[in-house]
Amino acid sequence: MRNDLDAYWMPFTPNKAFKSAPRMVAASEGQFYIMSDGRRIRDGFCGMWCSLLGHNHPKVTEAIVDQARRLDYSPAFNFGHEGAFRLADTISKLWPGELDHVFFTNSGSEAVDTALKMALAYHRLRGEGSRTRLIGRVLGYHGVGFGGISVGGMVNNRKMFGGLLGGVDHMPLPYNPAADAFTRGQAKTDPMLYLKELEQIIALHDPSTIAAVIVEGFSGSSGVFIPPQGYLQKLREITKRNGILLILDEVITGFGRLGAPNAATFFGVEPDLCTIAKGMNNAAVPMGGVVVSRTIYDTFMQGVPAGVEFFHGYTYSAHPLAVAAGNAAQDVFREEGVFDNVASLTAGFEDALHDLKGLPYVTDIRNIGLAGGITLETRPGAPGARGYELFLRAFEEGVAIRNNGDTIAIAPILTSRPEDIEAIFAGVKKAFAKLT
Ligand SMILES: Cc1ncc(COP(=O)(O)O)c(C=O)c1O
Repeated sequence: MRNDLDAYWMPFTPNKAFKSAPRMVAASEGQFYIMSDGRRIRDGFCGMWCSLLGHNHPKVTEAIVDQARRLDYSPAFNFGHEGAFRLADTISKLWPGELDHVFFTNSGSEAVDTALKMALAYHRLRGEGSRTRLIGRVLGYHGVGFGGISVGGMVNNRKMFGGLLGGVDHMPLPYNPAADAFTRGQAKTDPMLYLKELEQIIALHDPSTIAAVIVEGFSGSSGVFIPPQGYLQKLREITKRNGILLILDEVITGFGRLGAPNAATFFGVEPDLCTIAKGMNNAAVPMGGVVVSRTIYDTFMQGVPAGVEFFHGYTYSAHPLAVAAGNAAQDVFREEGVFDNVASLTAGFEDALHDLKGLPYVTDIRNIGLAGGITLETRPGAPGARGYELFLRAFEEGVAIRNNGDTIAIAPILTSRPEDIEAIFAGVKKAFAKLT
């Protein structure tokens, strides 16, 4: 039956269930959504890992309005505007070492596809065009472009869409619940337990055929799975030794989630490319990007004597409104000491999250920075049903959290105070009390 909700085909949503009991957001304010019936729902998932400064931050809002009055759009090719160069410069200074150039996109998915294309073209420009293979990870999430789902490892996001990109392998997720359930922070498991399979993949194909490995700092969308201590450092060593580029997908970890500007800084590794999006401009206007090493940038600049160096870009790359929001958000990160605030909240968040141990159906709890993951026992014959029920029950209790299958993610706004985090968990505990 057609009604006025019918026309909108909603993304990653059970459309029929939603349309029979819609949750309509009318407004937002700081830590809260205000629903169309006037209910205030506390945001325990930071938008979708993206509204890092809370909703409607006045400086971000004002910057967008001001920008819309002065320059609403400027062509992305052969034209530039001052704000774009300033934002690239500011962002590049947040990443370590050689990572000092930025290419703008409009989403994390576009950022991932851009980074994969950069990796392939970089090797070709250097005369190593045989390096075409890509390696991702089981349960990795890199958006929904064909590149992203090919290197990604979430079955439902892949199985309907044919052959995907050829020449892609997946290494295992560094997670072993049998040994490491309820670990606080990073487990002490030997990372080679997981990375030896990468070495086998490299040996099987020969390093000369492999362009890049892509991983998230921690696997966010699939359920907050945290790598053991030393994993990323070891991965960097292996990739470097074999001439393989390392792409770190920082769409969730960029701009403070770990209490550092990014995962590269937090883990003390220097990847070759880092994908960003979401919180870079507080998600107030769609935006993404790739932070690129000087070596890669210079290879393009020197390898192409004249004309366009990289045949890639989007109509809305560095859109003036997105850039204005980005420059304002970057100012606020600095002025309000947001990354330090996260670091000061992490221990309390960890305690509150692990306090859920022992509640019905909880089989594992994981945390890093201000990111928390909970695994629930699957209801027999109904995978995902219990996770969805907990999401609904938490909403009834006035808290928004995220379910993916039977895992739950909690990701507070980065400017939270301790009492905001307490309020999220108070709601979650009430939801658990009704969970069946
Ligand atoms: C690690 C990671 N990469 C890429 C993406 C895709 O970003 P977008 O939804 O903006 O395309 C996401 C989104 O959640 C993500 O978490």
